[in-house]
Amino acid sequence: MKRERLDKVLANMGLGTRKEVKALVKQKLIEVDGVVATDPGMHVIPEEQTILVEGEPLNYKRWIYVMLNKPPGVISATEDPRHETVVDLLPIEWADKVHPVGRLDIDTEGLLLLTNDGQLSHSLLSPKKKVDKEYYAKIRGQVTQHHVDEFAKGVTLDDGYHTMPAKLEILSSGEESEIKVTIMEGKFHQVKRMFAAFGLEVTYLKRLRMGTLLLDESLELGDFRELTEEELAGLRGE
Ligand code: URA
Repeated sequence: MKRERLDKVLANMGLGTRKEVKALVKQKLIEVDGVVATDPGMHVIPEEQTILVEGEPLNYKRWIYVMLNKPPGVISATEDPRHETVVDLLPIEWADKVHPVGRLDIDTEGLLLLTNDGQLSHSLLSPKKKVDKEYYAKIRGQVTQHHVDEFAKGVTLDDGYHTMPAKLEILSSGEESEIKVTIMEGKFHQVKRMFAAFGLEVTYLKRLRMGTLLLDESLELGDFRELTEEELAGLRGE
C-alpha cells in the first residue's frame, strides 16, 4: 500500500483543490485514526487508515476505471515526447495513476478504457481470453461478400501473420464503404492491415466495443466517465 500526502488524498477524492483541502485541515475538520490532523502534508495509507471529514468516513477509491471517447490526434500512452496523450485528457488525480488498456492508433477514435487495475487490464488484453473488439470503419473502395468470407477465415497480414477469424458486416458498399468489424486480437494496426491485404484503405476508424463494454455514445470526443458497477461486472465476467 502506498503512503500519500493527506492533502493529495483528500483532493483526489474530490473534496476540493489542494488549497481548499489544506484549509479543511487547518480548520481541524479532518481526523486520521481518531486524531485531529494538523499537517496537510502528513503521510497516510488511505486503504488502511480511517479518515474522517467533518466526522464522516472518507470512502477511499483504490481502483479507477474510466471510459474515454478517444479523439483523433492523441496517443494511447501515458507519456509521449511530442504528442498529447490520452491521460493528459483526464483530471490530474487520475492521470497520475491510470494506463490505457491496449492501444488505438493516433487517428482512431472511440472506446478506450483506462484503469490502474493491472489484473483486469491483463485479462482483457491476454490473447488467450479472445476478448472481441468491434469497430466501425469507412473504407476507400468497395467491400463485398468476398471480403466477408475471407475475414471469416482470418486474413494473412503483410508480415505473414494469419489473424483469427473476424466478423465483417457491410453497412454500405460503393466507392466508399461503411462496415463494422469484430476482431479478437490487437495486433499493430490490425484492422487497417486486414483491409490493406485486399488493397483497401481504412479512412476512418472508431472502436465501438471491447468485450461487454460499449462506447457510451453520449460522450463527446475527448469526454470520459467512470464505468458503472454493471459495466465493470460485465468486464470481469461476473
Ligand atoms: N486496428 C487498427 O488498425 N487501428 C486501431 O487503432 C485499432 C485496430
